[in-house]
Amino acid sequence: MSEVLQRIGAHAADYRDPLAAIDWRAADADLPWLPLQLLSIDGMAERDVASPEDLVRFSQIEFARLCAAGMWLEGLLINRVSINGFLGLDVDEARIALQEVREESGHSLMFLEMMQRAGAAGFPLLGDTALLSWVARRLKPAGAEFWAMVYIGETVTDTFGLRALKAVRAGQAAICPVARQVLELHHKDEARHIAASRVFLTNRLDRMTGVRLAVFRRTLRFLLDRFLDATLFPTPASLAAAGFQDADRLARDIRACPTRRALARECARPALDLLTANGVLKVTPGDAT
Ligand SMILES: [Fe+2]
Ligand SMILES: [Fe+2]
Repeated sequence: MSEVLQRIGAHAADYRDPLAAIDWRAADADLPWLPLQLLSIDGMAERDVASPEDLVRFSQIEFARLCAAGMWLEGLLINRVSINGFLGLDVDEARIALQEVREESGHSLMFLEMMQRAGAAGFPLLGDTALLSWVARRLKPAGAEFWAMVYIGETVTDTFGLRALKAVRAGQAAICPVARQVLELHHKDEARHIAASRVFLTNRLDRMTGVRLAVFRRTLRFLLDRFLDATLFPTPASLAAAGFQDADRLARDIRACPTRRALARECARPALDLLTANGVLKVTPGDAT
């Protein structure tokens, strides 16, 4: 019995499908999908940016990359938590897991719709995810390692989305109303998922042995860096699709851009803070990415 999980479960009882909840008619083709100040436009050479339309297009592709990261993580979570069915699990944990499968499926459908609207199908939006997928497919929801990966995945992408929402809510940026609704809906659900994965992780960490904890400690930081690499920086293919010339060079420039690297550090911070508080990681401030 966990009072925290019961509370989280109660909040998720009233489910509405995201495809029905989003007002798709509110789309505004003239507005970007993400605040442009978040996308390191300031770090790009002027010749890379031809027109306001190019910027809107770039923001759509960047938004599609966020959706692709979400779909990748959601697919892994659904795969791992549903592989053995839910009977025999602690009832509170089973309820949360089933609610998350339901919600992540809804998110993925919503993200798919956004990717299609961005015309972003058919080229690689994410960096190299092969190693992370390989590791994730070997982790079991019964272990702390799985929930640490979930916590990292969810907090990194949610921190990025929240950063965009904060700029919009503060009136510092105007974005397409549909993109805002997608970000708001996802953030609302992810706040619960993150709280639940924190409980799952903390409960399981207590049961880890010294050797297992040592291996976990050594690999986790490596995997976090791979995750930031794969999800937070545009791929040359995604930049080429947004219409930029010399996409390879631009991808390298954005990767080296201090603003973008600071954003990646900020997105890694919640995971680093929790894992440090739990005694899993020892980090010095600012050493992520
Ligand atoms: Fe999600
Ligand atoms: Fe989630």
